[in-house]
Amino acid sequence: MCGIIGICVINPRELKLGEAIYKGLLRLEYRGYDSAGLGIINHEGLIIVKGKGKLHELEAKYGFTKLHGITGVGHTRWATHGPPTDLNAHPHTDCRSIFAVVHNGIIENYYELKKQLLVKGHVFKSDTDTEVFVHLVEDFYRETGDVYVAFKKAVKLIHGTFAILMITSIDPHKIYFAKKDSPLIVGLGNGCNIVASDIPALLDYTRKIIVVRDYWVGYVTPTEVYIEDLLSEVRVEPETYVRIVEWSIEDASREGYPHFMLKEILEQPRALSQTLSGLRSDSTIKELMRAILEADNLFITAAGTSYHASEFFAYTVMKLARRSIVPFIASEYELYENIAGENDVLIAVSQSGETIDVLKAVRAFRRKGARIIAVSNVIDSAIPRESDLSVYTRAGPEIGVAATKTFLTQTLVLSWIACELALASGSIDLSEYREIISDLEKSHVLADEAIKGSSRKILGLVDRLLPARSMYYLSRDIGLPIAREGALKVKEIAYVHAEAYPAGESKHGPIALVEQGFPVVFIVPPDSGIEQKILGNIEEMKARGAFTIGVVHEGSSLNNVVEFPLEVPRAHWITTPITHTPPLQLLAYHLAVKKGHDPDKPRNLAKTVTVE
Ligand code: M6R
Repeated sequence: MCGIIGICVINPRELKLGEAIYKGLLRLEYRGYDSAGLGIINHEGLIIVKGKGKLHELEAKYGFTKLHGITGVGHTRWATHGPPTDLNAHPHTDCRSIFAVVHNGIIENYYELKKQLLVKGHVFKSDTDTEVFVHLVEDFYRETGDVYVAFKKAVKLIHGTFAILMITSIDPHKIYFAKKDSPLIVGLGNGCNIVASDIPALLDYTRKIIVVRDYWVGYVTPTEVYIEDLLSEVRVEPETYVRIVEWSIEDASREGYPHFMLKEILEQPRALSQTLSGLRSDSTIKELMRAILEADNLFITAAGTSYHASEFFAYTVMKLARRSIVPFIASEYELYENIAGENDVLIAVSQSGETIDVLKAVRAFRRKGARIIAVSNVIDSAIPRESDLSVYTRAGPEIGVAATKTFLTQTLVLSWIACELALASGSIDLSEYREIISDLEKSHVLADEAIKGSSRKILGLVDRLLPARSMYYLSRDIGLPIAREGALKVKEIAYVHAEAYPAGESKHGPIALVEQGFPVVFIVPPDSGIEQKILGNIEEMKARGAFTIGVVHEGSSLNNVVEFPLEVPRAHWITTPITHTPPLQLLAYHLAVKKGHDPDKPRNLAKTVTVE
């Protein structure tokens, strides 16, 4: 996963390089945070400062921000090859410390390459796959005497996924870059140019960007961008690919909140209202509706939270549009591509648009001739780029590792599509359609009420949950994906073991664990049929001593049945993710904070998973 950044400046007195790279790394820290490092070129040559630990700890130890220079790279790591140690931190250098490289991705053939380089006498300092790359460049430079030629030759030899940046004291004004599968963006600044893994890292300097495509190689200087296609060796005109991003620096800042996650939970009403205005004017919806209606089979795929949004869509399509759909976890795509054909449609949902499992599923279905529809939050990211049609959530950048606002906006977009599909296929009439759309149009208000109504109560609940080592999240029907999302949140940031089950299934095993005080959270959608059945499941749990918590809509009699009710506004059942998820996010957030964990940097996780 990892975050990488490179900056080159005309006037190092105007833009302090160490400070600028450190600031950029802080914006990329959500991608990995077990170690970090900087490589800077100044009058002394190439300087490397790196180590194990979080960025602020390393800043206190090494003073990254005090480094001065004209060209530099930085890296924040999520370990794949080699444990988090000082030596395994990036940048990596060649035998003579002339070249420095930062890398996001995996060099799959590193072992064979390393063996060959060792025979040639290269001395390795780390256990990483990345280090082979910089020794390859060193080797080719010895042979050709040309840095760019050496860089390209090295890129051609490596297999796997990569976004690579390289600087060298031989050519101090350039940052060389190459990309395949891992994200990379060039930012065109005033007096500087920047290359980074993601847009938030560039926003301090520019909103003018170029999204680097697979197999592009090139370099930036403070005033120039040179790109060519590695396969055809044809020059790419950078101007053709320049675009202006809408995100602002405030979107990517904490703005006084203790954590990004809390900021992002509270800004959900705004994210929903921005997404609604996008939906109202998005002509793609009509096009994708046609594609879905014409399809023989419909599939939807995603990972993590985006999968829960996809599962909700699948249930809604079955319930409302009465059409079959196959939802599957993206990393299992090989099983499902066996049944994909050319008249099929695959919907690929990904906040980042870069999750490798989803991208692989997209490519596999594409090879089978299926049409691909992307739902993403990041314009021009890899998954939309490789899809036939794309529709976007407009949640703004999400920095917290735990997905929050993007889940609500994804379910809004997907529910809108399901509703259009139901109308187009004749399973609902115009008046029902209008009733549903009118409730979806109120999403931002509903989320706001759900947040305000539950915030205070949750603080009291958290105290009672502190001793819990395990929890269940139970629901039925369209409530189930929301239960899964609640369980995922508490697992990933509060480190409490939590499992979500269809409430009816709990009798088939899980109930054996329930004893006095065992917390069971019920998600009760506003649908009388489901409600009645859940009532029985609540009673079963209470009879065994469970501590029952319920996210229940206003006016439901179940509010008096569960021991700890969290009341949310009542609307059409299709808005259940909008109304019932915020209390679950707040619960996980406050529990994590109370236990002393940092919800923005959960252990072992990175926000965007770019390795299989
Ligand atoms: O960017 P994506 O939506 O493709 O990411 C998918 C998952 O990695 C992501 O939802 C992950 O599960 C989050 N940590 C959940 O909070």
